[in-house]
Amino acid sequence: MNALKTPPPHLEACGISKRFGSVQALEDVSINVQPGSFQALLGENGAGKSTIVKCLMGFYHADSGEIRINGTPTRIASPQAARRLGLGMVFQHFTLIPSMTVAENLILARPNLPFVIDWKSETRQLADFLKQAPFQVDPHSRVSTLSAGQKQKVEILKELYLETRLLILDEPTSVLTRDEADEVLGFIHRLVKKGELSALLITHKFREVMAYCDEVTVLRRGRFVGGGKTASLDVSGMAEMMMGEARVRNEAVGTRSPAGRSVLRIEGLRARGDNGLEVLHGIDLTVRAGEIVGIAGVSGNGQRELVEVIAGQRGATGGRISVNDEDHRPTRAMLRNHKFCTLPEEPLKNAAVARMTVAENMAFGVFDQPPFQRAGFLLDRKAIARLGRDLIAKFSVHPPSPDAPIGELSGGNVQRAILARELSSGQVSVLVAANPVFGLDFKAVDFIHERLLQTRNQGVAVLLLSEDLDELLELADRVLVMSGGMIVHETTPEKADPAAIGRQMAGHHS
Ligand SMILES: Nc1ncnc2c1ncn2[C@@H]1O[C@H](COP(=O)(O)OP(=O)(O)O)[C@@H](O)[C@H]1O
Ligand SMILES: [Mg+2]
Repeated sequence: MNALKTPPPHLEACGISKRFGSVQALEDVSINVQPGSFQALLGENGAGKSTIVKCLMGFYHADSGEIRINGTPTRIASPQAARRLGLGMVFQHFTLIPSMTVAENLILARPNLPFVIDWKSETRQLADFLKQAPFQVDPHSRVSTLSAGQKQKVEILKELYLETRLLILDEPTSVLTRDEADEVLGFIHRLVKKGELSALLITHKFREVMAYCDEVTVLRRGRFVGGGKTASLDVSGMAEMMMGEARVRNEAVGTRSPAGRSVLRIEGLRARGDNGLEVLHGIDLTVRAGEIVGIAGVSGNGQRELVEVIAGQRGATGGRISVNDEDHRPTRAMLRNHKFCTLPEEPLKNAAVARMTVAENMAFGVFDQPPFQRAGFLLDRKAIARLGRDLIAKFSVHPPSPDAPIGELSGGNVQRAILARELSSGQVSVLVAANPVFGLDFKAVDFIHERLLQTRNQGVAVLLLSEDLDELLELADRVLVMSGGMIVHETTPEKADPAAIGRQMAGHHS
């Protein structure tokens, strides 16, 4: 690192309130980040986490409250002003310029860059900095060629190059593999321990909080609801603070019986991607009754195409899919015969019609069968409304109104409605779910997870694709790793070595 000019500042936000129109995003929120601490900021989606850190960074200005730096009340007028105080921020998305090299990105980020850049001396200065940097990134490589993990590291190196002393990270690991997240957070952790940096981390992953953070602040609906030293808290306590009530995880799930006969069998499956090149290079997998098989992998390794082939939205170029030993050709009738249902990613786009009502969307799976179809194509509106009300109650869809256009519901409620539809369309034997909780808040995540376990315990063969390895290790009975259009690894949650899985996901096959 550069010769240490200033130690990390003591940052206090006191009684911050901020309103956007009719939304009170923050009300009387205080945060205290002591020099040399690694603090986590937790809260469900919409809790106000991004808003408070944007106030600290000068992107927003609080309606009331005060920010103190080293005890002095300070007005942070702009992100530039925040930077001068040693505050820097890393976002979930990348801010680097892809067509430029790492070196160009870092040098051009300097706020006090002269009008005419002396590249030679700048490059020398940067080389000196990088020599002492804790992880090595080739300064001459173009950012567009870097992996997500490498990009996030460069974002952090950029902040350190700009002499950030208090680094704010807003969900920086949501695009990283578990290995990459550990590398990035471990690096920050070491700098914090050395006293060179303070960090404030927004994350949804309790594992990261427990492993790296020494203190926690929890927000709920714009208010401070608790916090303390990580050592004195446990995960369920934190989750409870976030959600305002005890998590009733797995209560209604029932118990699991041993997996039964093979239900879904995929052999040597091949398919081409949108660009005409082969993306599935011979997939073999089996899901038995009463079993959740998880497919781990970084997106873009053939998962989407696999689901599309199974659901009949993409043709296969080779191999075979069978359900209960019968050839599976995914037509509507066949899907119904095989008692097959799917819970797709982004259901609003892929499995629902936004402007139709919740009840109509729920009836989609069954509307071409009696009692919904009485005379030809005449739909029985009353039966549809009855089904809607019934499923809304069973799956706690909010608001509980069958007549609302489904597009007006929050993500978690759309997912519940679609899950309700899929699981209610008769006796189900196969459920395929692709990233079913992506972008949902904790309560919705728990609900969907419970339903998946419950579904398995009822004897359904469940194929669960997810980019979140923690989710798979929690739910699946077997975990397969998909990389480069192939299944490259198989393990069980008990035997799983997350680091090894991470390497497999990153394409390092041994
Ligand atoms: N620029 C904005 N304009 C209007 N409303 C906003 C804006 N930013 C955030 N909000 C609202 O403020 C609340 C808190 O949002 P945010 O701080 O982004 O939550 P979090 O980061 O915890 O998910 C939400 O209800 C959100 O819709
Ligand atoms: Mg946010």
